[in-house]
Amino acid sequence: MTDALISAALAARAHAFAPFSRFPVGAAIEDAAGHIHTGCNVENATYGLTVCAERVAVFKAISEGARQFLRVAVAADTDVLTPPCGACRQILWEFCGDVEIVLVNLQGKTESHRLKDLFPRPFDVSFL
Ligand code: THU
Repeated sequence: MTDALISAALAARAHAFAPFSRFPVGAAIEDAAGHIHTGCNVENATYGLTVCAERVAVFKAISEGARQFLRVAVAADTDVLTPPCGACRQILWEFCGDVEIVLVNLQGKTESHRLKDLFPRPFDVSFL
């Protein structure tokens, strides 16, 4: 499966700053207007301040004024496709809701999941 969102996630991966893990990741988010926002992981020497590709993409999109999202793509070089980490699932849920998450690797293998299936029973603003 090839589409613009997947291509954008793969291209964003090339910009990853991952000298510590050597595990570059790319992400791309399609907003309701059809615009694509991308992100890569940005690591830090303290390790804990590292930000994943998915959160970079979400925060870039939010900072550009986007508020509704349709799909997210995550690209990494693994045979078992790399899913968003727990922290990213929380952020994706709060900003994107039950979006489609497309995972892809460098061989073009893809999987599509609903965020609700990856992140059941979320805590969010509805509890506050
Ligand atoms: N990482 C992401 O950017 N997204 C994921 O979905 C999984 C993990 C990053 C964080 C860190 O820079 C590196 O991959 C290894 O964990």
